[in-house]
Amino acid sequence: MIQFLINSKLVSVENEAADLTLLNYLRNDCSLNGTKEGCASGDCGACTVVVAEPCSGSQNNAAPKPLQYKAINSCVTFLSALHGKQILTVEGIKQGKDLHPVQQAMVSENATQCGFCTPGFVMSLFALYQQANEQSASSPVKRSEVINALSGNLCRCTGYQSIISAALRACNEKSEAINTLAEQAVATQLQSLQGTSEAGTEVLHLPSSRQALAQCMQQHPEAMLVAGSTDLALLHTQQLKALPSLISLSYLPELKSIAVNENTLSIGAACTLSDFEATLLEHFPSLEEIMERFASLPIRNQATLGGNIANASPIGDMAPVLIALNANIVLDNGAVYREMPLKEFFTGYKRTCLNTNEWLSRIEIPLLKPNEILAAYKISKRFEDDISAVCMAIKLSLENGSVVQVSTGYGGVAATPAYCDELHNALVGKAWQNQECVALGQAVLGKAFTPLDDVRASANYRIQMLENLWHRFWLESNAKQSQNSIDIRVQAHA
Ligand code: FES
Ligand code: FES
Repeated sequence: MIQFLINSKLVSVENEAADLTLLNYLRNDCSLNGTKEGCASGDCGACTVVVAEPCSGSQNNAAPKPLQYKAINSCVTFLSALHGKQILTVEGIKQGKDLHPVQQAMVSENATQCGFCTPGFVMSLFALYQQANEQSASSPVKRSEVINALSGNLCRCTGYQSIISAALRACNEKSEAINTLAEQAVATQLQSLQGTSEAGTEVLHLPSSRQALAQCMQQHPEAMLVAGSTDLALLHTQQLKALPSLISLSYLPELKSIAVNENTLSIGAACTLSDFEATLLEHFPSLEEIMERFASLPIRNQATLGGNIANASPIGDMAPVLIALNANIVLDNGAVYREMPLKEFFTGYKRTCLNTNEWLSRIEIPLLKPNEILAAYKISKRFEDDISAVCMAIKLSLENGSVVQVSTGYGGVAATPAYCDELHNALVGKAWQNQECVALGQAVLGKAFTPLDDVRASANYRIQMLENLWHRFWLESNAKQSQNSIDIRVQAHA
């Protein structure tokens, strides 16, 4: 049995199909038709709902709140993801007879016309409103935070200004304090559901230890592994394939853990992008733009690092970054771990060297040394919520201004996430400030790959982008180096 709350109602699922999406469950089984279907692929936000989970800590040293709230796309969410959680829909956020402040602000700012997108906008704003309640009065919600919160919602008719105004109005003129006592009661109820042993159904398996997972995979060889489901669900919603049985990776604590030691950041494969984003950026701040552009916020709240790697897509954005960082991956079969460089994991288009009955357990990322510079670039048609035409990540190690190592990763230029050791061979020992490094790198990159022409970009465009990004990196890193040496000289004279 899988149990969760929909708004305040406890529901139990026993006999539903494994590939039933939350969206269809809400609309068809629960008659909650406020949540809409637009694209059924995680791209439009019409289906946005909010998931609440018991909160383990606070991000701003304040007392931990009982629940944390995240917007997700219900069209790409299977019921296997929901055990022990609360799902809030647009029907469930009214406060007694009154509209919720974000609903009222949408009305007051005339922020809706046809209204098809409106429930999704309201739920994204509701998640932002709940998070804003944790911030102090002296830090009002900024426009950039609103844009980030709405990065997964499309409106075809109103225009966004009135919606943004509604968001700022609701979040910064909070009239109602969040009812912490009611939240605490929900958190306690969810914790008791999470403690249920043998959660799951005949077709939705929720193992909670590596031994149980290994056993489950042996007993159900037909079942597919699922973590964030933002990619897997498309097999069902876009390609209309049946997924008769699923094994969730979301209930194993070790796959959800994040640890940092002196040299390494270790991220469990089932951590979502949102779970590890803050820790990653603390150690690799130059990844801020690519993390923001990775996908919309609701997708980042669901999609996992392991899923992005294990699906072996040649246009996933994390693999190029992690290859450039010389990350290792750890595979597990329940009895033995085996570790390998990520760059050796991909064996062909959408193929990897994972054995049957093996899963991706965690990713080990070496931390940067003081003499290393990291950059990651994404070229796509839209700034937000779009797939890369080209992704390129570069880690450069210098000693006394000379190149010691160039480590790179690429997306969108080959059948797999790619790397280019020839670039290192051409550059090692060169003085990085010398302009010849631009031409040497461009000559290598111009011949290293034979990308495809497709709807996102032509092969020629992709090669041109590699050469241009290499030039950009040379300009930016040299500007950074000279700024650093100015800073050091200023400090020496202070
Ligand atoms: Fe478009 Fe779900 S229906 S994101
Ligand atoms: Fe019409 Fe948003 S109000 S699509």
